[in-house]
Amino acid sequence: MTDWDVPTLINVPEFRDGLGALGVVEKDAPFPFPIKRVYFLYDVPSNAVRGSHAHKDLHQLIVAVSGSFQVDLDDGKTNSRFILNSPNKGLTVPPGYWRTLRNFSAGSAALVFASSEYNPDDYIRDYDEFAEWARA
Ligand code: TYD
Repeated sequence: MTDWDVPTLINVPEFRDGLGALGVVEKDAPFPFPIKRVYFLYDVPSNAVRGSHAHKDLHQLIVAVSGSFQVDLDDGKTNSRFILNSPNKGLTVPPGYWRTLRNFSAGSAALVFASSEYNPDDYIRDYDEFAEWARA
């Protein structure tokens, strides 16, 4: 059983045959949150650090649909590191995690499924503010 309150690598259903592979994310499967938004990161320079923020309510599923990159997560107490390098794996990121994404390989792309529409008020962009929020 997946604990959706902690970051977890989950399998993304894949249909592969001699013509290639097709991955599927749909309502409730494999991510049991409403998918209200999909966005994608691409053309990221290898030395770029993306993210550097936390969300108060948002659940996300991050998939490396091409290439690889590293996701570092911090809940104010514990740090974890995930390398995403396969379209058939996805990283669930619950609310309350400071995240940084880095070491993007050339040509890599991150596809992100999000449980709500874009809302700047859901972001915490200052680490000290996050640390205080996480302690509360
Ligand atoms: P941001 O969330 O800071 O990107 P990252 O965490 O990957 O570094 O967003 C970058 C810019 O894109 C920022 O100006 C806000 C805008 N944006 C939207 O307009 N809608 C969205 O859904 C997202 C994720 C970002």
